Amino acid sequence: MNASQTTLARPSAPVLMQPASVVTTASTMPAVERFDVQRLRADFPILQLEIDGKPLVYLDNAASSQMPQQVIDRLVRYQTSEHANINRAVHYLSETATAGYEAARRKLQRFINAAEEREVIFTSGTTDAINLVMHGYGRKFIKAGDEIILTTLEHHSNIVPWQMLAEETGAKIRVVPINDAGELLIEDYESLFNERTRLVGVMHVSNALGSINPIRQMIAFAHAHGALVLVDGAQAVPHLQVDVQDLDCDFYAFSGHKLCGPTGIGVLYGKAALLEAMQPFKGGGDMISSVTFEKTTYNTIPHKFEAGTPPIAAAIGLGAAVDYLSAIGMDAIAAHELELLRYATVQMLSLPGVRIIGTAKHKAAVISFTVDGVHPHDVGTLLNQEGVAVRTGHHCAQPLMQRFKLPATSRASFAFYNTLAEVDALIAGIRSVQKVFS
Ligand SMILES: Cc1ncc(COP(=O)(O)O)c(C=O)c1O
Repeated sequence: MNASQTTLARPSAPVLMQPASVVTTASTMPAVERFDVQRLRADFPILQLEIDGKPLVYLDNAASSQMPQQVIDRLVRYQTSEHANINRAVHYLSETATAGYEAARRKLQRFINAAEEREVIFTSGTTDAINLVMHGYGRKFIKAGDEIILTTLEHHSNIVPWQMLAEETGAKIRVVPINDAGELLIEDYESLFNERTRLVGVMHVSNALGSINPIRQMIAFAHAHGALVLVDGAQAVPHLQVDVQDLDCDFYAFSGHKLCGPTGIGVLYGKAALLEAMQPFKGGGDMISSVTFEKTTYNTIPHKFEAGTPPIAAAIGLGAAVDYLSAIGMDAIAAHELELLRYATVQMLSLPGVRIIGTAKHKAAVISFTVDGVHPHDVGTLLNQEGVAVRTGHHCAQPLMQRFKLPATSRASFAFYNTLAEVDALIAGIRSVQKVFS
């Protein structure tokens, strides 16, 4: 049977069920047992769903992770007893909402160990944060002939804004190549620097392959050559302990919805001196200190970059999400996810006709794969019939797919609430995909 012959039924609407009893194969993996994943799973109502009569196995966490009850409760509390617009009134609700919003900023500051809370700008997500740097820093400071270094691994959101800037200014983009494992070629990176290099844009962890990049070393090298570094941390912050001061990055961007928080919220971390020197990205209320028709003066950071009514509820929800993750501990999360990655990799490699794309030595729990003779879209559709949610496509990384001469892959991406039994379900699902196409 080939891809065009398959007819695939749409899943019925998810229904609530009791948590699936997990037949665990974890007996040989004490770290996983100590982690008590079942207790954590009970915090996530959505993980109790059935899809087409099968327990949901949610392995699309790199696209968006799920929200625990604690975050949902915080959002409900905000909406039912704290909501008003912030910064603009002296009444009780406005003051409560403002306090909640600013408390969330401090939580995020602590979570990434920023030196000051004004270095945390709330954005609508990673994409918005990168665009903020492009408009705020790039359009002011990057000129014709200047160079920006990006990598082959980048997500479109860390490519396209820089291409737009290059088109507008005449700046040049240079690209760091990778090896077949999906690792950046660091000697090539270093050889790209010259006196016109102004900025490096690099992802901390690859969404498509899971590669963890040596950004600390890359940042030190860039600084030694007078360039700034913007790190796309969308796939790192949910999985690793990130310390922006230790990394010494100039900018660090991430999204709330990949971090057990709401959509529509994200963070741009920037060093205060840089943020102060930058021009605003969006104009409007709250980002000004005074306005006349002759001249506007801008507010201090972070407000200079938060024009208009921000996503107040989402910011407060994100604050609750990082509280939740901190209580578990990012090191414990990383250790559990590494166990999942190792187990899943071994299981995948045992499947004939399955190829893992991205075999970097340092990897986060993301497995991109292809199945011989089956289009990734069909892999995803058939896995869905088994209740297994994976992502298929180019993962917003078309240049990376071109590097591997692939139109698309299937991608299983794990979170701390995934189990070894769910890896088994993925593997069984791939086996049944292969049976359909045999
Ligand atoms: C590495 C990376 N960067 C940027 C983004 C864009 O994030 P958002 O859509 O939340 O702005 C994603 C989303 O998948 C990502 O994985």
